[in-house]
Amino acid sequence: MSSLLEYDPSAALKHIAPGRLKGLQSAIEAARDETLNDVELWQSGAAVPPEKDPLDAGFIQWPEELLLDLQENGDNSLIARLEACAARLRDTVDSVVVLGIGGSYMGMRAMFEALNNPYHNELCRNGRAGVPRIYFEGWNVDSDNQKALLNMLDKRAERAEDKAAPGARTAVIVISKSGGTLETAVSFRNFRDMIERRFPDAVKQLIVPVTGDSGKLRDLANEAGFDDIFSIPDGIGGRFSVLTPVGLLPAAVAGINIRELLQGAADMTEHMRSAAYGSNAVLDYTAVSHALEIDSDLRIRILSTWGSRLEAIGLWYDQLLAESLGKHEIGATPLTGVNTRDLHSRGQQHQEGRRDKLITNLLPGKPMSDPISVLKRDDDFDQLNKFAGFELPRILQAAIEGTNKAYADENRPTTDIQLPTINAHVVGQIFQMFMLATVVEGRLVGTNPYGQPGVEAYKKNMNAILAGG
Ligand code: PA5
Repeated sequence: MSSLLEYDPSAALKHIAPGRLKGLQSAIEAARDETLNDVELWQSGAAVPPEKDPLDAGFIQWPEELLLDLQENGDNSLIARLEACAARLRDTVDSVVVLGIGGSYMGMRAMFEALNNPYHNELCRNGRAGVPRIYFEGWNVDSDNQKALLNMLDKRAERAEDKAAPGARTAVIVISKSGGTLETAVSFRNFRDMIERRFPDAVKQLIVPVTGDSGKLRDLANEAGFDDIFSIPDGIGGRFSVLTPVGLLPAAVAGINIRELLQGAADMTEHMRSAAYGSNAVLDYTAVSHALEIDSDLRIRILSTWGSRLEAIGLWYDQLLAESLGKHEIGATPLTGVNTRDLHSRGQQHQEGRRDKLITNLLPGKPMSDPISVLKRDDDFDQLNKFAGFELPRILQAAIEGTNKAYADENRPTTDIQLPTINAHVVGQIFQMFMLATVVEGRLVGTNPYGQPGVEAYKKNMNAILAGG
């Protein structure tokens, strides 16, 4: 097994009463068992008790199932079909617009930002190794933003001498489980219109829907007869769907190794099943965060990401925690920070503000490429020659240690999630760790982590307002 991330709560332990974590062990293990048993309940098709409805436990064993499907069915497996569609898009287009919102958007963005070159879209096609430029839309109703992207892609097609050359072409991956989300549906109309006008002979190849087995988008896709249509499985809710075709198809288009992603998630599920309490990242993270919330009123959970690549993972986690546990007037408030940027903004409050925060550091481990260093200069006006030759990760490490010491000196608890490095296997682990921990915590506190009834209120009002003319 490749290396797993590690959870280290040692800096927070003095803030937790002696014996408290031990005392929580049986409840946390029972919540873990319930989380795992729910998979069988869900698979059995038996009636789900009202307090567990909806029960979207399908994400737990999904990575293992998909890898098994690949082993048994090879080219006919879902993984192979996703990779084949991605390869087809990579070979025939230079831009892909991914349309989706919430769980149909945030995970893909997290993977793209964590794993691709931060300036991916600005590189030439060779520099991108043939991977198309990737754009995200349909996650808002911002006219200026959408228009700017539509115009840019439209002009690219208009200018191209050979309209069939990849450089001219854009494809659209439209993702919506319900198929009825207004933001995504409105955007899809506009991007579909652009594809139909510019590439009338290739519409069926250039639009790929990812949707549930029924709904408006499914009906539309069947009627239009697009070459590839992927299903979002039943029993996996939106914010738990990052490792279904929702995230896997765009990830494969972006050149991300989706087998490694799934393997990382499968390894984390196995770790959660078998590692002892006290050295189990999922259970320990849940226990420590829960104890500090209940006993010390630390209701704000800051995921402090040490690297620009990790910010979008934090934003994905914000949705996961907020929509899963923010119910019945309880549930911790998630907040993502990026350091060292936020040391120059939120840092003041974290150091001296209200004592209502638990800071969990997401530490990136080894950089993905050879590190750069501080240069030496003959003129030393900025007096940095004393650091000449220091690699940037060394400076980052000093910032991490300095910040955590400053928090510790002020009795502000921190914990660490240490990544070995950032790659697809590790990103798969992070997703699965947070999804499992969120469900275990839900079972622990008696909140159904699945479903998001509160999100419906704004949709109802918005539709009523629009229907009123
Ligand atoms: O967690 C969820 O289920 C939501 O955030 C949904 O993903 C989001 O509302 C988008 O829904 P849909 O995929 O049906 O368009």
